[in-house]
Order: sequence, then structure tokens, then C-alpha cells
Amino acid sequence: MNSSRITYTAPGKIILFGEHAVVYGYPALAIAIDRRAKCTVSSYLSDEEDVVLSTNLFPGKKFLVSSKESFPSSLQAVLFLIKKLTDNFQSNISLQIDISSSIPSSSGLGSSAAVSVALTNSLSSFLGRNYSLEDVNKIAFEAEKIQHGQPSGIDNNVSTYGGSILYQKGLMEQVTVDDISGFWVIANSMVERNTKDIVANVQKNYKRKQEKTEEIFHSIHSIVIRGKEYIKQNKLDEIGELMNENQTLLEQLGVGHSKLTDLLLILKKNGSMGEKLTGAGGGGCVVGLFDNIKDAHSSMKNIKKKGYQAFTAKHTKIGVTIDE
Ligand code: MEV
Repeated sequence: MNSSRITYTAPGKIILFGEHAVVYGYPALAIAIDRRAKCTVSSYLSDEEDVVLSTNLFPGKKFLVSSKESFPSSLQAVLFLIKKLTDNFQSNISLQIDISSSIPSSSGLGSSAAVSVALTNSLSSFLGRNYSLEDVNKIAFEAEKIQHGQPSGIDNNVSTYGGSILYQKGLMEQVTVDDISGFWVIANSMVERNTKDIVANVQKNYKRKQEKTEEIFHSIHSIVIRGKEYIKQNKLDEIGELMNENQTLLEQLGVGHSKLTDLLLILKKNGSMGEKLTGAGGGGCVVGLFDNIKDAHSSMKNIKKKGYQAFTAKHTKIGVTIDE
């Protein structure tokens, strides 16, 4: 063990274009945002070796990894990672793992991937394993499969590497941008849903209406290709238009929700340049693009007045990183 305490943080994300289609091998574009998951690993002397886990998902509760008590389903991926990474590790020291995240969970912002990436990096570093980013990304993807069934892998990639990424079939390309000058307002419908179930529903529809669904995916593909160029050139108006186009197609895939429609309307009335759901849909979050922080803030306030949660976010280039 290298150190008595180590902390890593990793970002959440928004998918700008291409969610769902990406599960079928089409490309998608995602950007990392300045909301992060944080994981601290420390040690303490103890007669019994164990790992104690605390997370702000369950405030005030401590989970003993060795206990027979079953872990909640939302922590199965975390449990998997802890067991995998501490396998063969023997000492008379117990580990304490503290996870906290400012990324709302179950809402399409990649919170589980960010937790997995931060946990993998902090725990492996603490145990003296010198993992590359590629290793961290791969291991976090294994955890994502436990959490989400058949994820595309986009969430763990953007959380590991940060920035803007184009992702397709396991391959990721950093889309080089100086900066995206826009501000994002992220509004949470607070309709909790499970990515696994929504992805399974789309698959059911795909099997029933393959030709139509493929057509939708092709249109989404074209949006992603155009979107990539607009992102590089920081063309906010065009990015906004494409977000609206993508939203229409997502509704045709059946992943809309009345609360999301409500939120999209509020964003539009408050001057957003484009707005769409982000992530799996069926609930979760929508995102609106603004060219100035003042409008973004007033839109956020108006959304909150209607009883929803909302916050502003900026693009970040910083993927998983040590917190010193
Ligand atoms: C993930 O945030 C969104 C989906 O495209 C699923 C995936 O890519 O794994 C719906």
C-alpha cells in the first residue's frame, strides 16, 4: 500500500446526440460535465480484515463487505469492484471506502459510471496497482454491465477520459474542442427509472419494428456526424437545432415521458437554443443549451419554481483525476 489515504474524482456526463442508437453500434457524442463522483480509500488498524463502505446514496449507513447482509441492488456494481480489486489482498489492515457524488443518480447523467471509475482508480492506486486509464476504463465497464445489463460503454469512457467523445462499438475518439462556450441547464424530472429496463424496452420495440427503428437510428447517426463538426466549431445555434431533431427521434423510439415534455417546454420558453432528454429517457433528466449564464440561471430558477430540480453545468476536459 502506498499511502494511508487516496482520493480520486470522476465526472458525470451528458449525451448530446446518439443515446440508444449507440447500443446498436451507431456512434454517439457525449461530453463530461463539472459534476463529479468522489471516492476516498483509507486504512485503519483492525483485528479483522474487512472493507467498510459508506456512500451518500445511503447517508449515515456503513456497509461491511464481508457481512452476510445483502447489499442493495444500487450497490451491486460497487460491491463487485471492491471484491475484484481486493482479491488476493491480505493484510491486518481494514479498508474504509467513502463514496460521495454530486451527480444525481438514476437520471441519465452517468453517475454509476463515474462512481465505478473513481472507485476503481482510487482503490487500485491505494493497493499499489499501477493501472493505466485504459485498465480503469475496462474494469469500470465490467461494473457497468452489472448495473445496466448491456451498456454501450459510452458512460465509463467519458468519465475516464473527460472532454467530448465520439464513441462507437468500444472505440472512443476525443473530439478536440478549445471549449464549448455554452452553458447547460440540466433539469431532473425526478421520475426515477432504470437504464436497464428502458434499454430492454427499446430492444423489444426494435424486434417488433426493426425497419422503422433502423430508420430512426440512421437519422440519429446523421445528427451525430453533423453534431461532431458543430461541436468542434463551437456552433451553438446548430448544436441546439440538432438537439431538437434528436429529441423528436428519441420520442419516436418511445423513451419520452410527459414530465420530460413539460421540462422541455419550460426550457424552450426560457430561451434555450435546443433541448432534449439525455441518457436513457423514460424519466431522468433533460438538458437545455444557453449561450449565456444569465439566461441559464433564470431558466434554472423557473424550473425549480415548478417543483423540479435543476442546475447549470459546464463542459469539463478533466476525466478521472487524483484529488490532492
Ligand atoms: C447511457 O447513458 C444511455 C444509453 O444509450 C445506454 C448506453 O449507451 O449504454 C441509453
